[in-house]
Amino acid sequence: MIFTKVVTNWYSINKRKLPWRGSKNPYLIWLSEIILQQTQIKQGLPYFEAFITNFPTVFDLANAEEERVLKLWQGLGYYSRARNLHTTAKYIANELHGIFPNTYSELIQLKGVGDYTASAIASICFDEACAVVDGNVYRALSRYFGIKTPINSTKGKKEFKLLAQKLLPKSNFGDYNQAIMEFGAKQCKPSNPDCSICPLNDTCIAFNKNLIKTLPVKEKKTKATKKYFNFIVCISENQETIFEQRLQKGIWQKLYQFPLIESKQDIKTRELNERLKGVDYLKGSHYTLHLYNEEAIIHKLSHQHLHCKFWIVLVDRLPERAIKITEIEEYPVPVILEKFISSFNFETITIN
Ligand code: ADE
Repeated sequence: MIFTKVVTNWYSINKRKLPWRGSKNPYLIWLSEIILQQTQIKQGLPYFEAFITNFPTVFDLANAEEERVLKLWQGLGYYSRARNLHTTAKYIANELHGIFPNTYSELIQLKGVGDYTASAIASICFDEACAVVDGNVYRALSRYFGIKTPINSTKGKKEFKLLAQKLLPKSNFGDYNQAIMEFGAKQCKPSNPDCSICPLNDTCIAFNKNLIKTLPVKEKKTKATKKYFNFIVCISENQETIFEQRLQKGIWQKLYQFPLIESKQDIKTRELNERLKGVDYLKGSHYTLHLYNEEAIIHKLSHQHLHCKFWIVLVDRLPERAIKITEIEEYPVPVILEKFISSFNFETITIN
């Protein structure tokens, strides 16, 4: 197979040095692949380093407080991945005595491990012939073979997995899987790939039919629903604020946030003032309300667009559950709050 040979050869020349390359330790490979599903290699590296420094083995991760795991994950988003990582670490440490399952079919049964991760671990650590198909692989295959089936359709997923499986070499499945992912990430890039230097350009259908910009095809999913979030940032005279843990199920479960008032649409000061009359933490106190961002900050998740506004409430006193503002950085928070906290200057706020 030309494709397989050329990609393997390209990789031997162009591969990056990465801390988990060359290792067959399933803990390291699992950790790196879960992190890399969230972000690109460059952005993911510091997270990987932080995780293995703090938790050198699966036992260390299993024994960690969940809050510490979430804090280290902060910034990557999709916190359910971090929670699943922790659950699976506990399962492997406590039920399997620290020994990872060594086949695709057993690996895929672990919480948070899907076809992609199971294939990566099985091929890299246990030399099983399983093809990985991530976004980079979809792109390289759809372009080279000129496949127009949407990559996010059920049909597309089956078709690409089957093709990727057929393209596997006779041995070194793990190396080849990493080669095709890296080829997709570095050579067959999403936009403006330099096809003039691509070793596959003479046989690539997309290149020869001018379809680089059209492939891969993605099916349009239903429109994301809009939600309107109003975060209430209380600042009391003795520099305290209210910070709460989100207990309800969902992407931000167990993370911390300023009290949240959800509204049906974008609301103005008068309406928010009305809603504040019912909250427990401002009962009997004197406060003034100030809108921090006139333009809502839109945080896009796969199925929801969160329109976020931060409201500053300068208040004389807060109930006992309030915490010191200087302590909020110790808590794991959603990315949108992390950005607010690092850009908002709490110290310069004074009460008139
Ligand atoms: N992207 C995700 N995992 C990767 C790996 N192991 N090698 C190259 N690119 C990747």
